[in-house]
Amino acid sequence: SAAEKGGYDYFMLKEIAEQPQAIADTLLGRLSERGEILLDEVRLTDQDLRDVDKVFIVACGTSFHAGMIAKYAIEHWVRIPCEVELASEFRYRDPILDRSTLVIVISQSGETMDTLMALRHAKEQKARVLAICNTNGSTIPRESDAVLYTHGGPEIAVASTKAFLTQLAACYLIGLHLAQIRGVMYADEVAAVVEKLRQTPDGMRILLDRMEEVRELARDLRTASTILFIGRHVGFPVALEGALKLKELAYMHAEGFAAGELKHGPIALIDEGTPVVCVVPSPAGRGVIRDKVVSNIQEVRARGARTIVIAEEGDEDVRAFADHLIPVPHTPTLLAPLMTTIPLQILACEIATARGNDVDQPRNLAKSVTVE
Ligand code: AGP
Repeated sequence: SAAEKGGYDYFMLKEIAEQPQAIADTLLGRLSERGEILLDEVRLTDQDLRDVDKVFIVACGTSFHAGMIAKYAIEHWVRIPCEVELASEFRYRDPILDRSTLVIVISQSGETMDTLMALRHAKEQKARVLAICNTNGSTIPRESDAVLYTHGGPEIAVASTKAFLTQLAACYLIGLHLAQIRGVMYADEVAAVVEKLRQTPDGMRILLDRMEEVRELARDLRTASTILFIGRHVGFPVALEGALKLKELAYMHAEGFAAGELKHGPIALIDEGTPVVCVVPSPAGRGVIRDKVVSNIQEVRARGARTIVIAEEGDEDVRAFADHLIPVPHTPTLLAPLMTTIPLQILACEIATARGNDVDQPRNLAKSVTVE
């Protein structure tokens, strides 16, 4: 009913709007006043976490994209090797696991069969399994050694939105927790990231309030034959997620690429007017990755692409290469997906509705995939 949808036409729109609160709820009680990470609820001992010498993140679909982003954060903060793998591929490859391997399984529903089978395989090999899950008491957290729940609230729309962002928040908490316990980050370094993390819901609210232009753009793009997405670093999984949302909701061809890989083949796809959504990192710091993405934007534009550029507000130089500029509030590089994903969710949702699709119930899809 309309009441259940909180006045929105679709659950998906409601869930997109709930994201700032979902992040705040997921952080609640897990950060101290002094900016430490408080994760006593995770039933793995500090000694277990100190003994970890390898992390695997295993998930499907959007949850897999959250894992891809977590890899950047974990390797940067914790300095332990971290691999991310699709659950449906993981166990068939006979991965190398033992007691000192931490396997993080990410699942909104907690019932995804591919992820559950990967988790069982990891446990058979004696790895420690930590679940990130949004559904209390579901099978995946019950079978894991430990769980960190995302507090996103029920997600009804088939397309994952708030679950994705809260999974990211959970991954950041785990990464910082590991770095804190293992002493690889100083307390003030952890506290500085925590402070930024705490500020993200405010930035997200500001961003959500100015998405009108994205809605207009969406109506314009509804007849495109393909939309490409490019990004580097954590912007690469964001590009993959933007493309996945478009496929599942709008039933359009879409593909995400690592921007640097374009010249190795995919750039041949670019034709006059091909829409390319470009996720630009922050120019803060040395801005090395940001400059690389900007030159990739120039490359596609020189071949006729119509560029839709998602960049940090104040990054005025990108304007020259953007047919459409979508500014997002400043966030440190590793946390930026909490912002940059939002316009892509709205873009996909609006293109899909402009094409007459039911975004809550896309064809051929189920909310949780309980078959292998
Ligand atoms: C995302 O929009 C999807 N519908 C899908 O990819 C989903 O993320 C995937 O099936 C994993 O589900 P889970 O998080 O419940 O395990």
